[in-house]
Amino acid sequence: MTSQKREPADIREEVRAYYGARARSAGSSCCGPSNGDGCCGAQAEQIPLYSAEELVLAPEEAATASLGCGNPTALASLRPGDVAVDLGSGGGLDVLLAARQVGPTGFVYGVDMTDDMLDLARRNAAKAGVTNIEFRKGHIEELPLPDASVDVILSNCVINLSPEKERTLREAFRVLRPGGRLAVSDIAIDGDLSDLPVAEEQVRTALSWAGCIAGASSLDEYRRLLTDAGFEDIRITIRHRLTLADVGQGWESAGKELPADVVAELASRFVSSEITARRPEAGAPAATG
Ligand SMILES: C[S@@+](CC[C@H](N)C(=O)[O-])C[C@H]1O[C@@H](n2cnc3c(N)ncnc32)[C@H](O)[C@@H]1O
Repeated sequence: MTSQKREPADIREEVRAYYGARARSAGSSCCGPSNGDGCCGAQAEQIPLYSAEELVLAPEEAATASLGCGNPTALASLRPGDVAVDLGSGGGLDVLLAARQVGPTGFVYGVDMTDDMLDLARRNAAKAGVTNIEFRKGHIEELPLPDASVDVILSNCVINLSPEKERTLREAFRVLRPGGRLAVSDIAIDGDLSDLPVAEEQVRTALSWAGCIAGASSLDEYRRLLTDAGFEDIRITIRHRLTLADVGQGWESAGKELPADVVAELASRFVSSEITARRPEAGAPAATG
C-alpha cells in the first residue's frame, strides 16, 4: 500500500463532490436500510439521533437528508434570542431545529461549501416556513461571519472532514462572542492508531475521508486544538463506539489492504462524540491563519 500526503484543497474537493452527490440524491436517505457506504450518519440506524418531538418540527425532507452523527442542538442549551451558526449545515435540519429554539428574536446561520447542499437546505427552510435563518456559502476554515457575532457554534459530523482543523477551531473561536458556547457532534479516535501493524498514514490513506473516518482526530488532539484556539470548559463525551457494521463499505479499500482483525479493531477506535466548550468571557480572538 502506498501513502501520500494530500493537499487540503484536494481533500475539500473530494468532500464537496461527495456531499454534492448526496444532496442531489436526497430523499434516498444515506441512513436508510441500504446504507453502509461510509457516510457520516451511517451509525444513525442503531441509535436514533433526534426525538420524534424534534422531528415533527422540521420537514421530512430535512430529516431524511440528515448526515450527522449526533444532535448538537440538544447539547447547546439554546436560549430565545441567541444567534447561532451551524458549521457544515448540510440539508439544514440542525439549523431548522435551532431556529425553533432561539425563537423570533434569535437567528441561525448555516455555513456550507457545497452548492447543492445549500440549495437543498434553502428548499427545506422554505418548506418549513422558517424565516429567522440564513444559509451562507463558505468554508468552515474561513467563516463568512464577523468577529464576535454569534452566541453558539453548532456542528454535526463536519469538523472531522476539515483538512485544517486548527484553522476551523480558531475561526469558531473568532466568531463567538466572549462567553459564547460551542456544541459539536463529531467522529473522533479514542486513543490513537500508532500501535497497529501498519503505519498510521497508510491506514488513513486506505480509509474514506468523505465518510468521516480518514480525517478524524484523536480525542486528545481535539482537546488540544480547542485549548490552543482559546476555548475553556472543554467537555468530551463518547456517545457511540463504531462497529464494522456502522462503517460499512466505506472500509472496503481498508479491508483489502489490511488483515480483517486489524480492520475490526480499527473500527472500534472510532467514536461518535459530543464536544462542548466555551469562549472565555474576556480575551481577544485567537489569530487566524
Ligand atoms: C456529513 S455532512 C453533515 C451535514 C449536516 N451537518 C448534518 O448533520 O446533516 C457534511 C457537510 O459539511 C459540508 N462541509 C464539509 N467540509 C466543509 C468545509 N471545509 N467547509 C464548509 N462545509 C463543509 C459538506 O458540504 C456537507 O454538507
